[in-house]
Amino acid sequence: CGIVGYIGQQDSKEILLKGLEKLEYRGYDSAGIAVMNEEGVHVFKEKGRIATLRETVDPSVFASVGIGHTRWATHGAPSKVNAHPHQGNTGRFTLVHNGVIENYVQLKDEYLQNVELKSDTDTEVVVQVLEQLVKQGMEVEAAFRKTLGQLKGSYAIALLDKQNNEMIYVAKNKSPLLVGLGDGFNVVASDAMAMLQVTDQYVELMDREIVIVTKEVVTIKNLAGDLIERSPYTAEIDASEIEKGTYPHYMLKEIDEQPLVVRRIIQEYQNEAGELEINADILEAMNEADRIYIIAAGTSYHAGLVGKHFIEKMAQIPVEVHVSSEFGYNMPLLSEKPLFIFITQSGETADSRAVLVHIKELGYNALTITNVAGSTLSREADYTLLLHAGPEIAVASTKAYTAQMAVLAILADVTARSKGLMQNLDLVKELGIVANGMEVLCDAKEEMEEIAWQYLTTTRNAFFIGRGLDYFVGLEGSLKLKEISYIQAEGFAGGELKHGTIALIEDGTPVIALATQEHVNLSIRGNVKEVAARGANPCIISMKGLEADDDRYVIPVVNELLSPLVSVIPLQLISYYAALHRDCDVDKPRNLAKSVTVE
Ligand code: G6P
Repeated sequence: CGIVGYIGQQDSKEILLKGLEKLEYRGYDSAGIAVMNEEGVHVFKEKGRIATLRETVDPSVFASVGIGHTRWATHGAPSKVNAHPHQGNTGRFTLVHNGVIENYVQLKDEYLQNVELKSDTDTEVVVQVLEQLVKQGMEVEAAFRKTLGQLKGSYAIALLDKQNNEMIYVAKNKSPLLVGLGDGFNVVASDAMAMLQVTDQYVELMDREIVIVTKEVVTIKNLAGDLIERSPYTAEIDASEIEKGTYPHYMLKEIDEQPLVVRRIIQEYQNEAGELEINADILEAMNEADRIYIIAAGTSYHAGLVGKHFIEKMAQIPVEVHVSSEFGYNMPLLSEKPLFIFITQSGETADSRAVLVHIKELGYNALTITNVAGSTLSREADYTLLLHAGPEIAVASTKAYTAQMAVLAILADVTARSKGLMQNLDLVKELGIVANGMEVLCDAKEEMEEIAWQYLTTTRNAFFIGRGLDYFVGLEGSLKLKEISYIQAEGFAGGELKHGTIALIEDGTPVIALATQEHVNLSIRGNVKEVAARGANPCIISMKGLEADDDRYVIPVVNELLSPLVSVIPLQLISYYAALHRDCDVDKPRNLAKSVTVE
């Protein structure tokens, strides 16, 4: 689920492969490149990792134009045949595509009755349709625009024409794509990180635009063919931030960065007087809202559940939290003055974006909380709050989750203060204590590894239980474990477990229980007794002051409200070591993508 392209004087193979490696974090199951020189177009593609692709690329081919792709399968299984690039039957056109073409069956019926397709992908249909239009006598650019005009769904596309090695054709709708500018060369990339190795100057593309990229010039047009002017911006990502350094995995590095990220967030949201501050327009939108709708997916959804608690407890505004992919079908009755908050690490999640587009059509206000400045959801919402967590590369989200909760706490606190509420909470001080507590936990790697050995090395499944805020953290802990160790894990409300799921408890089933909330401390311990009586192997992680004799680990005291920011760290580390012990690919778990740009 990423695209790169290069046109210039240098050999493109290495630039494309390096670019694809930088996109690996987004998740993929096959990869390919096509490079073009006077002899023609050379396509290399493989199922599996970029490292495998690298081995099959012929080192003797020199070509200064090329496109590359990592694929996360949607239509058609991950295989060499379905991997991109795809070509039409004459081999004149070679194309890579991210996204989903919803009407590909209809296009096939309309244009390709007599054309034999080689793959099961929606993408091949695009290149074959283009080829048919050119065969019928259309100019390439006009045929490209006409083809794009017929497409329903999402796409980011890069296209090579064998008869013209002076240009790459590019197009975008809904899926992210940027053009990067260099001296004597230009590049194409799904995100700036892929091509930081060669440039930090990028031009954003909008939906339904096409771009003709030569080594000297970048020409943007709309589908009608009108020229569009747009200035480049500088991608402010420090290339060193996307290196692992001495860490064996990005995930471990990112777990360790959490104290620093929380401290950075405090700084970023403090004014000169040392008070927390958020943009006045956002504050006004918060204060005008009679109900807030949080929309998110995956880990960001889990941060949203905690965010609801913060906003309701502190600022006393009712909040609903919705999984973005369901919102369209299970749309609640909206209040009179809703405010939508989109929580998304990448700012690109297609499910969340679809809700944003819909609610903007209805005329409502939206705030995006994201880690990526300039991302689609940030650009298209009315307001943005940034996470300042630095690039998150590991597929399993860690520092973005804690950063999301920290920013939500600040948003809730500042809103509360503007209403004269919560005056007795010194959030700057409390978040400072959180950062210190996080540091202690990041130093407890050996203990966490020990827990992973003891509970998770051979098990098939695991349960996470908690009450109140601990329940939400348990959901996130179970997602982390599932994502990277493939252990079937469930997060459950401590009290709900007995209403069915307890039937799954067998001798030795690991049950990780969080006990960081005083008001539920006794009842969660009661739930632990219930599962232990049925053979489970309980692992209690409690907070200092609430601990009991058998607790497996006691985390440092932080303000109870903010405990999720700290109590999640043991769960992240336990998942990390469980995955490591089970020989799983921690940073690039199977089947997952980091930026899910398809609905
Ligand atoms: C993908 C990732 C998850 C992530 C979710 C939401 O499914 O694998 O780790 O939580 O997308 O991503 P977002 O960028 O919107 O926070």
